[in-house]
Amino acid sequence: MARIIVAGLAVAAACTQTAFAWGNLGHQTVGYVAQAFLAPNALDFVQTSLGSTYNESLGPAATWADSVKYTPGYTWSKPLHFVDAEDSPLSGSCSVSETRDCGDGDCILSAIANYTTRIAKTSLSKAQRQEALKFLACLLQFLGDIGQPLHVEAYEVGGNDIDAVCGGKSTNLHSAWDTGILETNLDATYDGEVSNYAAALIKRIKTGTYKSLTDDWLECSSTTEPASRRRFFSHVPYTVDRDVSRFLDKRATITPLECPLVWAKESNAYCCSTVFTYSSGQDLCTGTYYNKAVPVIDLQLAKQGYRLAAWLNVIFDGDTNL
Ligand SMILES: *[C@@H]1O[C@H](CO)[C@@H](O)[C@H](O)[C@H]1NC(C)=O
Ligand SMILES: *[C@@H]1O[C@H](CO)[C@@H](O)[C@H](O)[C@H]1NC(C)=O
Repeated sequence: MARIIVAGLAVAAACTQTAFAWGNLGHQTVGYVAQAFLAPNALDFVQTSLGSTYNESLGPAATWADSVKYTPGYTWSKPLHFVDAEDSPLSGSCSVSETRDCGDGDCILSAIANYTTRIAKTSLSKAQRQEALKFLACLLQFLGDIGQPLHVEAYEVGGNDIDAVCGGKSTNLHSAWDTGILETNLDATYDGEVSNYAAALIKRIKTGTYKSLTDDWLECSSTTEPASRRRFFSHVPYTVDRDVSRFLDKRATITPLECPLVWAKESNAYCCSTVFTYSSGQDLCTGTYYNKAVPVIDLQLAKQGYRLAAWLNVIFDGDTNL
């Protein structure tokens, strides 16, 4: 399948971090993977809410937030797609700090909290719930975006300012990670079809090489963060289940979420181990770099899809059901 890879050098130079997210293919993949693991009530909510507009599926819905963030009504939502980790990936030091990197409370971490609350809020009016529905799709994006290493990296505007080569074409590092490497992989191995790709990842989760990892994916072992911004901290292991149900517990006041921060750190660590390990002029969409990047992208998309399902399952079914 022929697809146009945007060689946006001038565009990239003019763009900020928000110019790219996992491209549509990445978001759709996360959505389709999640859809396969929804528990009954979560599935019912998703299908009813999304309706025929999105073929009742998280796959098509997962691109919504990206498509609206440049439209007049939603430009405010741009900062919600990332957290700029002020670390030093080139010297091998990767880290994410909620207080340092999301100090103004306007980033991917706070957005996940906000829309988790709103999705669960049955007291919202019909119109508000309809709006909340739109933000359900946002949430998917955020959980998807947090798995993209360069969305949790501030260095050179998340890699947007770093020239790169993908399949012989000029691009930038961020764009190569959002779309270039993934498109190359899809065309090479999955007939260019995101549904084939998602099906392969789902199979790996159910019966293949990822099966033994999934329990770990739903644990968010605590961080070395100071507890200043969270009230619950001492339980080990910390799980998605506990994180979301505590967050939604009406008796608690604002309880910061733990898992998204842990996941952001995990994703950010790939900036040091993989993303920044190229040499100048190296083609990122072929050879050793590509072969090292593909397993990371496969894993991150599968993992975030699975986590997204777990997240919705806890909200609507009271348990991850996984
Ligand atoms: C809509 O979903 C159904 C059932 O999951 C699927 O068979 C069909 O291919 C989908 N249609 C589109 C246009 O993606
Ligand atoms: C939460 O989401 C709503 C709806 O999009 C938005 O109006 C509000 O500003 C958000 N609140 C915070 C604290 O981000």
